[in-house]
Amino acid sequence: MSEFLKKQSEWQQQASSSDDFKVQVGRPQSDESWQQLALDVKQKLNLVQSDSLLDVGCGSGLLLSKLAAQCATVSGVDYAQAMIDKAQQLLPHSEFYCGEATSLKFDKNAFDKLLSYSIFHYFPSQEYAIEVIKEMIRVVKPGGVILIGDVLDAEFEVVIKSGSNLEYEQKIPYIHRYSQWRFYDLTQLQAAVSPLVKKYEVLSQPSDFALSAYRKDIRLWL
Ligand SMILES: C[S@@+](CC[C@H](N)C(=O)[O-])C[C@H]1O[C@@H](n2cnc3c(N)ncnc32)[C@H](O)[C@@H]1O
Repeated sequence: MSEFLKKQSEWQQQASSSDDFKVQVGRPQSDESWQQLALDVKQKLNLVQSDSLLDVGCGSGLLLSKLAAQCATVSGVDYAQAMIDKAQQLLPHSEFYCGEATSLKFDKNAFDKLLSYSIFHYFPSQEYAIEVIKEMIRVVKPGGVILIGDVLDAEFEVVIKSGSNLEYEQKIPYIHRYSQWRFYDLTQLQAAVSPLVKKYEVLSQPSDFALSAYRKDIRLWL
């Protein structure tokens, strides 16, 4: 089985491993941390009540559920069917479907805002990430905003990976192994994407967020 399919199947298992929506997406933090995360995302996306919002890699929909009251409609896509089932359970009136981030089944200019949080480090390559970003740009209206959250900065790759116990890693799923995470050369990513958008910004996460030292949020203005 390819690494891509292995990760997809592990997310499928992770979604079914617990009834706790936080555990399903691998972020078992306090309710307070989740509220802070939702607030940070809401502000960075500049969400307003009339917005249609798409979440790519929505997982069990917990983050989206905390944003749903701030906009008109929310929709989600994830490549693990079990995640989609959980998200649909949490937000029964919203539209969800199982699919890959490179191929979104929506028309051009379908959404005002797009969120994709904590999924880019599971991608197979930087080229794949750029393909995903192009697809995101296609489905967001001119004047819209895309927020790609939790992008791992390659400047910290050696430090993070050398701190990992490789023997222990053999016992845990691929998706939780630091050695398997993709870090991004943020300068290269910016050079590839900024010609496609009106404005490209690299934003910091609040310093009290776990792991914020090496995770950045990328905001694209269309
Ligand atoms: C860490 S979870 C994050 C879930 C949610 N965005 C959040 O922040 O709570 C990562 C999610 O990305 C999904 N995912 C990873 N790679 C994907 C891809 N290439 N296409 C679609 N979904 C993907 C996984 O199935 C998983 O649900």
